Amino acid sequence: MTVYHLALDKEMLQGARVALLPGDPCRSPKIAAEIAATYGSPLSPRPLAHHREFCTYLCTIRGAPVLVTSTGIGGPSTSIAVDELAQLGVETFIRVGTTGAIQDHIAIGDVVITAGSVRLDGASLQYAPIEYPAVAHHDVVAALIRAAASLAPALNMAYHVGITTSTDTFYQGQERHASFSSYVPRRYAGMTEEWRKLRVLNYEMESATLLTMCTAFGLRGGCITGVVNNRATGEAITAERLRLGEARAIQTAIRAVELLIHAAP
Ligand code: URA
Repeated sequence: MTVYHLALDKEMLQGARVALLPGDPCRSPKIAAEIAATYGSPLSPRPLAHHREFCTYLCTIRGAPVLVTSTGIGGPSTSIAVDELAQLGVETFIRVGTTGAIQDHIAIGDVVITAGSVRLDGASLQYAPIEYPAVAHHDVVAALIRAAASLAPALNMAYHVGITTSTDTFYQGQERHASFSSYVPRRYAGMTEEWRKLRVLNYEMESATLLTMCTAFGLRGGCITGVVNNRATGEAITAERLRLGEARAIQTAIRAVELLIHAAP
């Protein structure tokens, strides 16, 4: 059976049980190339399919097949990627992306490991009521922390573990006035300051859907993002900041997958 949106079937996955999930389809080949450069393998990287926003590569980490599939931006397309990969036997999902920090002690290029997400998306509501938490699986959080701790000195970065606010929109939902209408509806006006006081670390757009689905399905989900801007300090997104945040999140996520594969019984 070929799943409809991802254009993949079970045979193509070669038993892969772990998937890295960037949002941007252009990041799938980058992650695959980084895996190949780090671990080397005649099988790696192999492009499997690219349909709409879903771009998939099959890679090998220390002999184990690992999938890289882009989710597109936001909850609806993320829900499709997670559901269809789960149908094909994937059990562990790690989002690897970029984020805007909202605390002033977080530097550009640091990584944020999401322990749980504020559910400001819409898609996760179609999986579980709003009272249900969007939490990362403890195995994945532990692997991401170990990976970040081991890489932090060499990469000259800090890592932060905590709560992420995950929104459906980049502009209004993240209280950005620099948008077409510049109007932020009352519900979101002042929210960034409230999240800051509640010790939320950052904004991104996929973790609420991913973590709610994984927990509800009995699968393992996690999220690591590289900081590309900071709303507290006023540092805006630039090409260099994007490159730095993206690279560090990717390197840390790959190491975490290696740790998870080693820990497998
Ligand atoms: N991704 C987001 O969702 N928000 C940001 O500010 C940066 C990256």
